[in-house]
Amino acid sequence: MVIKRTFVVHFYKQLSSVSNNNKRSDLSNRYFGLFLINRLTAYIYSTYLDTYFAKMWLEDRHGVELRNHTTGGVSVDKLFLGNISEGPCSGEEVCVGSRMVPRQVPANYKRPKDKILQQAKEFLDGFFRSSKKFASEEHIVRLLEVHKDIENKGKYDLTYDELVHGCGMAWRNAPRCVARVQWQSLKVFDARHVQTAKEMFDSIVEHIKYATNQGRLRSVITVFPPRTDGQLDFRIWNSQLISYAGYRNPDGTIEGDPANVQFTEACLYYLVSLCHSLGWERKERTQFDVLPLVLQANSLAPEVFLLPDDIVLQVPLVHPSLPWFEELGLRWYALPAVANMLFDCGGIQFPAAPFNGWYMGTEIGSRDLCDPQRYDISKMIASKMELNTSTHTTLWKDTVLLEVNKAVLYSYQKFGVTTWDHHTASESFMQFYASEMKTRGGCPADWIWLVPPMSSSSSPLFHQEMALYFLKPSFEYQTAAWSNFNTKSLIKKTTTSSQCNPRKKLRAVIIAVRLCSFLFYSSWSKRPKVVVLFASQSGRAEKFATKAFASFKSIFQTNLYCMADFDTSKLQDHQAIVVVASTFGDGDAPNNGEEFKNNLIKMRQKNSKFRQMNNESPRFAVLGLGSTSYNQFCAFGKFVDITFQELGGTRLLPLVCADELNNQEKTIETWLSDITIALCKQFLKEDNHNSFTNMELSGNQSNVSLTARFITSQEEKEDILRALSHVHHKEVSLARISGKTLIGDSNPNRDGHAIICLQLNTLNSETLKYKPGDHLAVFPQNNRDMIQRFVLRLRNCPAYKSMIQLQVQGPNRNWEYWKRIPPCSFDILLKRFVDLTSSPSQDTLRLLASSAIDPKDKMRLDVLAEDFVAHEKWVSSNNPNIVDVLEDFLSVDVDAAALISTLPVIQPRFYSISSSASVVPREIHLTATIVRYRTESGKGRLFRGMCTSYLEQINLGDFIICYFKSNPAFHLPPYPSKPLICIAAGSGIAPLRGFWQQRCFEKGVPSHHTFITKIFGNFSKRSVQQQAANQHGPVYLYYGCREKSSQLFRNELDAMMQHKVINKTFVAFSRETGKPKNYVQNLLWKDGARVSTQILNEGAYLYICGKKAMAIQVEDTVIRIMSHYGEMNNEEAEMIIRNLKAEGRYKTDIFG
Ligand SMILES: Cc1cc2nc3c(=O)[nH]c(=O)nc-3n(C[C@H](O)[C@H](O)[C@H](O)COP(=O)(O)OP(=O)(O)OC[C@H]3O[C@@H](n4cnc5c(N)ncnc54)[C@H](O)[C@@H]3O)c2cc1C
Ligand SMILES: Cc1cc2nc3c(=O)[nH]c(=O)nc-3n(C[C@H](O)[C@H](O)[C@H](O)COP(=O)(O)O)c2cc1C
Repeated sequence: MVIKRTFVVHFYKQLSSVSNNNKRSDLSNRYFGLFLINRLTAYIYSTYLDTYFAKMWLEDRHGVELRNHTTGGVSVDKLFLGNISEGPCSGEEVCVGSRMVPRQVPANYKRPKDKILQQAKEFLDGFFRSSKKFASEEHIVRLLEVHKDIENKGKYDLTYDELVHGCGMAWRNAPRCVARVQWQSLKVFDARHVQTAKEMFDSIVEHIKYATNQGRLRSVITVFPPRTDGQLDFRIWNSQLISYAGYRNPDGTIEGDPANVQFTEACLYYLVSLCHSLGWERKERTQFDVLPLVLQANSLAPEVFLLPDDIVLQVPLVHPSLPWFEELGLRWYALPAVANMLFDCGGIQFPAAPFNGWYMGTEIGSRDLCDPQRYDISKMIASKMELNTSTHTTLWKDTVLLEVNKAVLYSYQKFGVTTWDHHTASESFMQFYASEMKTRGGCPADWIWLVPPMSSSSSPLFHQEMALYFLKPSFEYQTAAWSNFNTKSLIKKTTTSSQCNPRKKLRAVIIAVRLCSFLFYSSWSKRPKVVVLFASQSGRAEKFATKAFASFKSIFQTNLYCMADFDTSKLQDHQAIVVVASTFGDGDAPNNGEEFKNNLIKMRQKNSKFRQMNNESPRFAVLGLGSTSYNQFCAFGKFVDITFQELGGTRLLPLVCADELNNQEKTIETWLSDITIALCKQFLKEDNHNSFTNMELSGNQSNVSLTARFITSQEEKEDILRALSHVHHKEVSLARISGKTLIGDSNPNRDGHAIICLQLNTLNSETLKYKPGDHLAVFPQNNRDMIQRFVLRLRNCPAYKSMIQLQVQGPNRNWEYWKRIPPCSFDILLKRFVDLTSSPSQDTLRLLASSAIDPKDKMRLDVLAEDFVAHEKWVSSNNPNIVDVLEDFLSVDVDAAALISTLPVIQPRFYSISSSASVVPREIHLTATIVRYRTESGKGRLFRGMCTSYLEQINLGDFIICYFKSNPAFHLPPYPSKPLICIAAGSGIAPLRGFWQQRCFEKGVPSHHTFITKIFGNFSKRSVQQQAANQHGPVYLYYGCREKSSQLFRNELDAMMQHKVINKTFVAFSRETGKPKNYVQNLLWKDGARVSTQILNEGAYLYICGKKAMAIQVEDTVIRIMSHYGEMNNEEAEMIIRNLKAEGRYKTDIFG
């Protein structure tokens, strides 16, 4: 204590003597002086005494003697005496000075206040000393100011001059840098004001431009905002501002710079996870692809930026006397700019402070190009030089190194780019070293790094002993940015954000979890295996399964399968099984899920159980797609969910059923986000020891679908039926058009209302077994005009007649067949497979945006591609098809294969069969409303439904491709005596016509001059069912259409009523001129008393057919009728409807 007091007094004496000596007039204000002294006493007590004790102790020591073995001279390094940092070997029992990274600033390192104070003081002392203002008033005021800031805020801001001084000193102090002689000429760009990654990027571009200076390189540092609380870091994830990508080939070889394979893979993943594509990942790969910059502002998710080609100066490597050298296509970039070190200055840490000097030739010629773990060109050069590589004694390696280094120096000189050879560099360092010893009393130096990698002993550095220690300010290694990236909090933040729409939320989660996967898994092969299975009839479940797959594939080892292609015995090979399945028929699996369902039933019957992996049963989650209008809501999804549980699986999430009638899309988006989180929670384990550098992301698992192409197919002849059967997992057949009637507006170019009635002949015996209520699936095709317009806007279209196969580039850039489109002619591909009428998805728009030349087009497309709400609005108002979009955005220049691989495959359209096979054997009748309307609320272009416009144009005698689908959920009741209440609107009357024909037949009603007889001839067949004729219950038909002229089957219905096949028909017209709008539900309400009695007391069956909106209105009305006439409350009435549905007495056939 005594010593301490003495020391303070001594310090002040010294201080005042300095002041007096300087004759400082401005210290004359005694009050100010006293104030300073008081404040400073407290300051010194609190911060410096320990340091000074350390110094006092160190001062007793003599420094280190260092010998130069060439000259024999001995110098003493005492500078380290002020150094309080640890060296690489402190605390180690052995010397580890050759470690690449001897020490690094840990992630999230928050320097304690007392340390900041101490380092600030030392730095400011140094700064003022260097400007010859040590102990000046300015110095003291600054110390007080800084002290106050540190006390209050835990930080302070360096002035620009201090920053410049600090940057220079950090360079001067860098023990590994041979070029330190330049330290005073470092240009400092102060970028501490930037806030976003984009602003960081702009600053870096400026840095590169200024530093490159057309080859006459200038040393520059750009300093981004400092670390504030150990959390909010600005970081550059690249190790250098300019560096080359490294790609792992399927055979394990590497293209490009092996040093950057992991970073390149991370970039590729990250680019894909970003919802816009930069195009970089799709470029043709070369050995020298400049990596994009991954920049992180304020600890937010990093963003990726491409460096403009014109600012990255590169030097093609040529040799002064070996002409073939040029042909090797070797090159290197001009500007070496370290990007990932932390600049530590005055106690403040700057995690992003890229700096550059210029290359010493050997860094490129020896290390980058010839190191075995880098480009490793030695053997190749040796063989070109015809050197004998069979023995080391030929010194072929040295010869190669020499020639490559000569080439590097020669080329940089030839192209006017600053560089220096290792001899000049060594000599200049020796001068710097000598000068530092003289002026500063020492020079921290890392012999291992400073001695050049070739001709070491011919460099003077080799013979100079050096002392390695660390001074501040400094450039420090720091833990990789990704390991400091707080993914957990990001996940939490994004998943708890309530304002986020589910899709945005999902996107944020995907980005976060992708990063998690980088951080927390040491190798791909350790990642959990996830399989996504789907079963889908009309494509929705497949679409969402594909989305789920897309979000999991870079996190887990993920595969996507249609159930029909999946071997059920492999289920247990996966740690997680994610199922997306719709329901069809009467609670059935879709076609492509039938076999899977049967296999699960067999497994259940055999009491099989899933095999355990590492004592864990497979996890599973099921998303069912369905419609509550069907009795068996999501039955197949429910079946899979319960069966997986019975087989011993563990649920990741409870079953989710997405109802077509109730926000299906939103339910699915939320589920997608939930399942992604659930999988991550289940499988992503934190392991802070795994840094990125330990990661072995296996390229062959990357699954990045980069591009697409057409190749010539070996198929000799086209078999469309087989191709469609294969793609849709259903045997398809031909049916001939034998009758066609159009009712309503026959002009296909107007948006008038029209209905088409078709008569088909089929020879398929299965199809002919249909019952009224069953469906026919019809495969439409794109019309010729659309196809021609489409092709005109594409690049690289194959010839129409050429047999081709679409391939996409998948994992590891290997080409895979695009399963959704089989080998066929380009013509058939366009006609039968690529859906040209649907509105482009956001994925497609993303591709178009990246292919747009006009920035305005690009911007508009980008908005649609990224903004979910804007996209939804655009689609619902404009319903644009891909051809319209290509014509609207004329600057889009897109490759045919790439675009086609993003478009959906044409799905068949279902039609309720509107005939009875008993009445018209070998025939199937369809009744379809032609979809034709003007978009944008009637003001936009004419939209024509794909299938109905195809059916409209088809000629008698032509064939359509179709398959039959049984629909037991809408068959006539098993007890014909029960009353039938049939409700339909528009073409919803189709299946009802099948019913009355069937009843007609069963009752033995003779043929008539009805629509049937007019078009299809008489019928008078009798059957056994006729015996039950008298037992048929009453039939009431409620039918809605626009106006009298569009009333379908009027004559036929009159005849049915005449023969008591239908007891009463009620027709509501919604657009009859001069009359109020009327709808089926109004008619039903009017008959409420009878309807209620029939339902509640007589066991009536209700059949409702038509569009969703109509079905909803009708259900509401039936509920109202029940509660009004059945004297029950609303809940009870709803319960009745639920029971009716469960009993199969309330049946719906909804048209989408
Ligand atoms: C089980 C089942 C049975 C069916 N039975 C029949 C039947 O018997 N008769 C029948 O006519 N249809 C029936 N359909 C509907 C039929 O399958 C088709 O959906 C319909 O014919 C339209 O097909 P498309 O290819 O012509 O139109 P698409 O090219 O598929 O276009 C239809 C799309 O256009 C949009 N659209 C259509 N009209 C408008 C409008 N006015 N305003 C805004 N957008 C609009 C909607 O997004 C709609 O989904 C049935 C559907 C199902 C699922
Ligand atoms: C003919 C037909 C039958 C259907 N049967 C059911 C059913 O029994 N249960 C159900 O929940 N949904 C049923 N649906 C609704 C579909 O499951 C729903 O439309 C789903 O979104 C379709 O998904 P997909 O395109 O993947 O096949 C049926 C739909 C149609 C057209």
